[in-house]
Amino acid sequence: MAPTTPPSPDRRALVHVGCIMDGNGRWAKRRNLPRTAGHTEGEENLARLVRVAVKRQVGWLTVFGFSTENWVRPRMEVRHILGLHKKLFGRVTELNELNVRVQWMGRPFESAEARTPKYVQRAIRKAIADTAHNTGMVLTVAFDYGSRAEMVHAAQSAAAQGPVDEAAIDRHLYLPELPPVDVMVRTSGELRVSNFMLWQSVGAEVYFTDCPWPEFDADELDAALALVNR
Ligand code: FPP
Repeated sequence: MAPTTPPSPDRRALVHVGCIMDGNGRWAKRRNLPRTAGHTEGEENLARLVRVAVKRQVGWLTVFGFSTENWVRPRMEVRHILGLHKKLFGRVTELNELNVRVQWMGRPFESAEARTPKYVQRAIRKAIADTAHNTGMVLTVAFDYGSRAEMVHAAQSAAAQGPVDEAAIDRHLYLPELPPVDVMVRTSGELRVSNFMLWQSVGAEVYFTDCPWPEFDADELDAALALVNR
């Protein structure tokens, strides 16, 4: 990917980047490795990308860690991905050094449909509490997340309080303070946005790249950010 001119720092500070991190499995397969090795490298790359995004003064980075549809994957793979979430949420020292605040969004733990196991819940709660004082980039991990489930939740909660209009839906999203997405990234050559932040990305630029998630690097992020500043 040819290097592109990144947006000016002023503009970037407000930028919200969404990432659909696809292609871990294919990355591993090409190396004759198990799919789980691809996810492990995907988590490592996310940690590297957070560092780059902070350097680029990105304001909000929201990643699709595990969807409401992903539970049908083989049990061993699901268990591995869950462990990687625990690892990511455990990177508190690094995140504090970077002044990054962690958030989570997904089906509320107490809801009947929610599937987040207790040990992941604990890791999420701890990461949120331990980084709550940070004032820099906000890293939001979507886990047990689906945009349709979020919209149903928002519509039901809004209806319980009064008339349902766009502003009411906005107020009842999982994280109402999350700004609209400026650029949505999807890696690994898939030209779909799947079930990720459909409400929040209505005006977003979309950056599709053939690069698999474990190789999504600074040049790739710069190419995505350049779309925002055209
Ligand atoms: C896509 O790869 C990725 C996922 C299913 C989500 C899991 C993401 C990670 C483990 C990266 C680290 C992120 C966190 C938040 C710990 P795929 O299996 O769909 O790849 P394929 O399409 O090539 O099979």
